[in-house]
Amino acid sequence: MWLSPFYPSPQADAGYDVADYRDVDPLFGTLADADKMIAEAKARGLRVIVDLVPNHTSSRHRWFEAALAAAPGSAERQRYVFRDGRGPQGAQPPNDWQSVFGGPAWTRLPDGQWYLHLFDSGQPDLNWDNPEVRAEFLDILRFWLDRGVDGFRVDVAHGLIKQADLADWQEPQEILSGQEVDQPRPPMWDQDGVHEIYREWRRLLDGYAGERVLVAEAWVEPAERLARYVRPDEMHQAFNFEYLLASWTAPAQYAVITRSLEATDSVGAPTTWVLSNHDVVRHASRLGLPVSGGRPNGIGIGDPQPDAALGLRRARAASLLMLALPGSAYLYQGEELGLPEHTTLPDEARQDPTWERSLHTQRGRDGCRVPIPWEADAPSYGFGPTDASWLPQPPSWAEYALDRQQGVPGSTYELYRTALRLRREHGLGRGPLRWLSSGDEVLTFTNRGLTVLTNFGAAPVPLPAGAEVLAASAPLDGDAVGTDVTVWYRG
Ligand code: GLC
Repeated sequence: MWLSPFYPSPQADAGYDVADYRDVDPLFGTLADADKMIAEAKARGLRVIVDLVPNHTSSRHRWFEAALAAAPGSAERQRYVFRDGRGPQGAQPPNDWQSVFGGPAWTRLPDGQWYLHLFDSGQPDLNWDNPEVRAEFLDILRFWLDRGVDGFRVDVAHGLIKQADLADWQEPQEILSGQEVDQPRPPMWDQDGVHEIYREWRRLLDGYAGERVLVAEAWVEPAERLARYVRPDEMHQAFNFEYLLASWTAPAQYAVITRSLEATDSVGAPTTWVLSNHDVVRHASRLGLPVSGGRPNGIGIGDPQPDAALGLRRARAASLLMLALPGSAYLYQGEELGLPEHTTLPDEARQDPTWERSLHTQRGRDGCRVPIPWEADAPSYGFGPTDASWLPQPPSWAEYALDRQQGVPGSTYELYRTALRLRREHGLGRGPLRWLSSGDEVLTFTNRGLTVLTNFGAAPVPLPAGAEVLAASAPLDGDAVGTDVTVWYRG
């Protein structure tokens, strides 16, 4: 169970702007509640991964407040990335970097200096060349490890170290560092210096009893570059965003699966798979967009709307394919309900800083963060005691509610339960994958005695005579597997 940040925060970026790394925001509860949750999760055989945000603090963190009060060049400012500007009176930012959320990545102070924020201006970047910053984060890791957490999801793990000269980049700002291995790296992402930090963290974790994990959120391509984060003395796993971004075609899926497995095998780490998270368009909608794969975050102004039926059909096929793959699969709350993106949120409800920073040209990620429906007929679908949910829920969501799907054969919820049960029973997460076919329209492989077939093509594909179907993402037509359907079978 991975929890996004619950620490005290002004909530400029849904808690990814942390004001105090060693406490809980009163919005969510207290430190004692966190302890209780960790203990109760453990008692149920669940493990808890908390979100660690080391690239930046909140501008309301005591360190940044001290930096603002201190003079240029002071020790307080050395914990962040402060620079003088360029041009007459230093009125231009120190370089041309843009914020991932839009607008310049620098904000100027009344005393004339600028500070770097790769994200919102409320998220100043820390200076990881400063030993004080390194020591502080080792201590934060200890704080949560001592409280019994099983690991950390490391936010923006590819961003901590910047190229020393902060050279101009002249490219649009993307969080994804997607260069070929021999091409120049963006000066703000995937710098070699980050690995030394994770080696130090790994040594710390290895000193703790039990299994404790580090998971990198590193938007790094190609897979060989990403694999460097999970070398034996670094992190344990890294999110596989190349997989998330891959198009829904047989050749693209085959290529990304084989490449991912090869890359992680080369360093002896488990591969990971992910289709949705709190930063991207939910895959039940993304896969229904005209361009398969779709843009990663938010459906922009003027973009075509997803085809809901197509999206859900493909999402179910994609999830069933993913859950048969060896490695670790990460699920995002609500995908087990087949929940779509909320694409018609009123603008005044928007929380994502992208909306303001892009001057209302990018809607951002709120559409995938709307509280999920538990009970069809309860206020806010069971999220809270009234209809006021954190982000408003659309009226059409009753049909996705958990209580409408539990025990209903063929529901997305029951499909996930079946797949997860079989995955565990057969040990699919640790099995060997062997391809049987990898054509332009159909992929077939075996894993631990199970055969998995996905039909991406228009023509139905017959199963072999006597095949025993264990799971199917949509009903079969006799023995025929239709378009955008995945089947697990024996025989
Ligand atoms: C990561 C988080 C995202 C956040 C950003 C800045 O990408 O997943 O939600 O906005 O980092 O912390």
